[in-house]
Amino acid sequence: MAIDYQKEGRIAIFTINRPEALNAMNVQAARELHQAMVDFRDDPELWVGIITGAGERAFCVGADIKDMLPFLKEHLQNRPWAMPDTPMRGLELWKPLIAAINGLALGGGLEIALACDLRIASEKARLGTPEVMLGLIPGWGGTQRLPRMIPQCKAAELLLMGKPIDAQEAYRIGLVNIVVPPEAVMPTAREWAETICQAGPLAVRAAKEAMLRGSGLTLEEGLRLENALEAYLMGTEDFAEGTSAFIEKRKPNFKGK
Ligand code: HXC
Repeated sequence: MAIDYQKEGRIAIFTINRPEALNAMNVQAARELHQAMVDFRDDPELWVGIITGAGERAFCVGADIKDMLPFLKEHLQNRPWAMPDTPMRGLELWKPLIAAINGLALGGGLEIALACDLRIASEKARLGTPEVMLGLIPGWGGTQRLPRMIPQCKAAELLLMGKPIDAQEAYRIGLVNIVVPPEAVMPTAREWAETICQAGPLAVRAAKEAMLRGSGLTLEEGLRLENALEAYLMGTEDFAEGTSAFIEKRKPNFKGK
């Protein structure tokens, strides 16, 4: 399997498992990521996802140049949405995703991390969009997500020059949340996932949806969206449980209902 998909309680772990090619995404990996992500999205027992790469060198070095790029060349010009839906594009996924960036995150690999909500980077990670060196641009969301996430001049530096940056620089410009030693990447990701699992899962999803959908709206429209989501949450069992638990001075037992 090119994607190793494991369920640990409420947490789903997706490992891109092609270490011999530095976890480059071939067509099979993209299909498997799609299938695993759809299962994660639709399984009510799963609340948070973690994406990482197998081996010590790479998170993912992007589209497989020998397999994926020829596939895209054949399909993209006539059927622009030929790629299966993934968190990078097309998948309506409001459950939170954490990128555990254990090493190189280049091209489509960085774009997978950008499609996550939280990014935990190894001290040894390097991040970049080298696509221009191949005569391409990032095509899994990089040209759109980077300038929305970091200052435009820094996005331009990455996108136009194609040179990777190290983890500390990525932290400095706000591209990753935290930098940790290599052996702490997955434990930190699990710890953060567990923290999110303490919260009401429907509220977490509504917060993500409000945040992401809201970024494409005017303030007025965004406030309306927020209001509609708040009204929906107030009708949930989780809201009743959360407030009761506070008043009764106990931990809430959220059910995602
Ligand atoms: C396929 C890849 C690969 C890739 C590395 N490999 N990157 N295979 N696709 N993207 C393979 C190499 O061919 C090699 O296999 C093995 O992984 C180890 O890589 P080396 O190059 O030998 O290692 P090293 O010298 O340490 O260099 C590491 C590297 C370099 C700097 C990461 O491999 C590199 O520049 N890779 C290309 C990264 C890139 O351009 N990514 C963007 C892809 S385009 P063998 O069999 O020879 O040992 C993209 C677009 C997404 O992501 C959007 C599409 C719409």
